[in-house]
Amino acid sequence: MSKRKSKDTQWTAGECVSQAQKILRERYCYQRVPSSPVGIESQRKNLLELLRRTAIHGESNSVLIVGPRGSGKTMLLKSVLKELFEVREVQSNVLLVHLNGLLQTDDKIALKEITRQLQLENVVGDKVFGSFAENLTFLLEALKKGNRSSSRPVIFTLDEFDLFAHHKNQTLLYNLLDISQSAQTPVAVVGLTCRLDVLELLEKRVKSRFSHRQIHLLNPMDFHQYIETTQEHLGLPQDFPDERFAQEWNSSIKMLCEDRSVKDVLRKHFNTSKDFRSLHMLLLMALSRVTPTNPTIKPGDIQEASRLCSMDAKANILHGLSILELCLIIAMKHLSELYDGEPFNFQMVHNEFKKFIQRKSHSIHNFETPVVLKAFEHLQQLELINPMDGPSAKIQKEYQLVKLMLDHSQIMEALQKYPQCPTDVKQWATSAFG
Ligand SMILES: Nc1ncnc2c1ncn2[C@@H]1O[C@H](COP(=O)(O)OP(=O)(O)OP(=O)(O)O)[C@@H](O)[C@H]1O
Ligand SMILES: [Mg+2]
Repeated sequence: MSKRKSKDTQWTAGECVSQAQKILRERYCYQRVPSSPVGIESQRKNLLELLRRTAIHGESNSVLIVGPRGSGKTMLLKSVLKELFEVREVQSNVLLVHLNGLLQTDDKIALKEITRQLQLENVVGDKVFGSFAENLTFLLEALKKGNRSSSRPVIFTLDEFDLFAHHKNQTLLYNLLDISQSAQTPVAVVGLTCRLDVLELLEKRVKSRFSHRQIHLLNPMDFHQYIETTQEHLGLPQDFPDERFAQEWNSSIKMLCEDRSVKDVLRKHFNTSKDFRSLHMLLLMALSRVTPTNPTIKPGDIQEASRLCSMDAKANILHGLSILELCLIIAMKHLSELYDGEPFNFQMVHNEFKKFIQRKSHSIHNFETPVVLKAFEHLQQLELINPMDGPSAKIQKEYQLVKLMLDHSQIMEALQKYPQCPTDVKQWATSAFG
């Protein structure tokens, strides 16, 4: 429904619901910079001032933005850059280079990417440089204006900054920070990281060139603010095409956030992680349960969403196993209990399984050894069991030592929910000695 209807056209309930879902999904998934980020005013001001000094006054700087995952580091940087680039002078003069430790895994790749983003590939051509520093200086020189009197400021952003510290000799970091200290070209280096101890990772010569400015995002939100934020993030905007629907929606969201059971769920989430990303995940799940016949989010939807969010991934895999594979897991559970968590091999598991079939089973019959081995290997592929030695160890598959990566409660929980699990298998799982 991309077409916008004129004001006086009536929207059907179905159209309203899908429009509301579209708006909210975009809010949760598109990583848009929120118009008014909450709780980070001082950090914003700080960073903006710093970058402005590079962009407008030609002063070099370096700074680290530190905060846990989802705390809004990228959002902070984006929103500051957006504001900075609204100035005409900045727009025409300042250059941006975005690097990410997950993409530029070594300094050579990083340098290539810098060249590409500065659009200097043609200028560099086939030139061969003696050192990294020489290459980088050449790039910055090339950016100088026609009369060579003034240089254009460059803002380097390094996401996952800590990963750059693992590059050989930390050459890129050293050179960037070195340039930011010498006055030739105005350079700002902005690092983003979730490691509080990131400075410890830097070599002495790199550390000494870093300005030691840090901006922390530690999210001081309390529970009351968390509820308020939830309500805000679920609300529809003023300019929603169908005014009545938006009003009804917003008042139902207000009621929802006052509901006791919803508060309980939100408190559980708040206690595990306060960040917006996991909140958005929860709201997204709840939102997907809204339909034209059920056009609001109900407390039950939030509860169900929370259940889906907190579901254990491994326990989830267990639901998809075959009965044979499940039996092998139970055999391994008994072995782990019997030998106090010591590793075991396929032969031992198979023996345990055979004992079960001979003594207790009515529903499961014998399987050929290769079939059982195949099932065992499948469990290994799913990483429910892991080999003790590296994969290169030259031991026959049947004798390689492995370890079970599940705990007792995960197995029992999965068995409870397993569709049509034979009772004798369940009994075997609960019996004390296999
Ligand atoms: N103060 C805030 N106000 C509104 N939305 C926020 C705020 N902080 C974070 N968000 C939202 O939370 C989501 C995650 O933020 P962001 O991607 O910036 O986190 P991050 O710190 O960069 O995480 P990562 O370390 O995984 O890169 C984004 O959708 C962002 O818009
Ligand atoms: Mg980020």
